[in-house]
Amino acid sequence: MTIGIIGSGAIGKALAQTLARGGIEATISNSRGPDSLRELIRELGPLIQAGTREHAARADIVFVAVNWTKLPAALGGLTDWGGRIVIDANNPIEAPLFKPVDLKGRVSSEVFADFVPGARVVKAFNHLRAQVLADDPRTDGGRRVLFYSGNDKAAKAEVAALIDRIGFVGIDLGSLAVGGKLAQFPGGPLPNQNLVKIG
Ligand SMILES: NC(=O)c1ccc[n+]([C@@H]2O[C@H](COP(=O)([O-])OP(=O)(O)OC[C@H]3O[C@@H](n4cnc5c(N)ncnc54)[C@H](OP(=O)(O)O)[C@@H]3O)[C@@H](O)[C@H]2O)c1
Repeated sequence: MTIGIIGSGAIGKALAQTLARGGIEATISNSRGPDSLRELIRELGPLIQAGTREHAARADIVFVAVNWTKLPAALGGLTDWGGRIVIDANNPIEAPLFKPVDLKGRVSSEVFADFVPGARVVKAFNHLRAQVLADDPRTDGGRRVLFYSGNDKAAKAEVAALIDRIGFVGIDLGSLAVGGKLAQFPGGPLPNQNLVKIG
């Protein structure tokens, strides 16, 4: 199984850190190209390599962690998703104004899914602050909780296995329409709930 990350900012880096901690290889990318990632790669260690967004997008599981308004550019032209798993770690709001994007009544991951036609979208890794996500999930006598949702059961099972492997406890919230809404920021009740499952 190969893993790609599009976005190397606060969340992209946190994802890479948590994958590396779990002994998992990944390719991370941004808009400026692999050369701009040299320092980050040194920090992240040997399991994480720098690539182009095209390279990251060819992986079996592709994390996307990009500012909402930059998603069309970040995902544009990457048309052959062929049923691969894409993890939507994004929220429809961004600095500096933090004005929620008008989603015209849709759930953000359903809007996101339009950018990756043919992919099996799982919403996850979007509801904790980057620093919390990057911290060791084995904490306070238990394991930190990550919520995930999606419309494809097999894709969710693969993401659940990955979540478990990197040390978190995954909780399936159901479909994108139901679970995506619960974990959506802003609007849902679950973002920023830093929960630890004991036992
Ligand atoms: N920060 C948090 O605590 C947090 C928590 C939960 C969810 N989120 C969500 O996660 C997403 C990322 O947030 P962030 O805080 O990580 O943002 P960030 O620090 O600003 O990083 C954004 C990343 O997106 C990359 N990017 C922009 N345009 C691109 C393109 N055309 N192709 C490839 N990469 C591109 C940027 O690369 P360049 O720098 O090279 O342009 C940068 O690495 C957002 O949707 C945010 O709402 C953030």
